[in-house]
Amino acid sequence: CKEIVKMDEKEEVKGSCNRRDFMGNVGKIAFLGGVGLAAAGSLIGLKPRVLPDPSEQFKIGLPQDFPEGTVRIFEKENVAVFNREGGLYAISLVCTHLGCIVTLNEKEERFDCPCHGSKFTLDGKVTKAPAPKSLPWFQVALQPGGQLMVDKSLTVQAGTKVTV
Ligand code: FES
Repeated sequence: CKEIVKMDEKEEVKGSCNRRDFMGNVGKIAFLGGVGLAAAGSLIGLKPRVLPDPSEQFKIGLPQDFPEGTVRIFEKENVAVFNREGGLYAISLVCTHLGCIVTLNEKEERFDCPCHGSKFTLDGKVTKAPAPKSLPWFQVALQPGGQLMVDKSLTVQAGTKVTV
């Protein structure tokens, strides 16, 4: 590319750079960079994920820590664990609309989303849009050591409760 220098109505071509060539080269570099990033992203995406992320599983305590009527919120994990109406269950606190964290409204016995006003029953059913679907339920299992474990990588059908 050429560089054009204007000096008192005269143009002098200096070097080899003009604006069009320069912008063309910037475009090519940006395009090649984008292709490179896309290729790297594809390779990462192809990596097999056989084992669930360990942070998706967490211990919640012993069965005796959850007598009938218990509601416990695990804020770090965005999960609520209940023992009500015949069993223990864990549901997600991540709103199915755009991912805000719903809050427990104990007085009204429901979950409210602070972002766009969706409401859910204590077993996760949507009672007010815009959330398009219910809050998912996660697997709760009794471990060999007697601890209860929630696995956020495994969803179960709503209504699946563990008796303790
Ligand atoms: Fe919950 Fe929009 S993110 S209603």
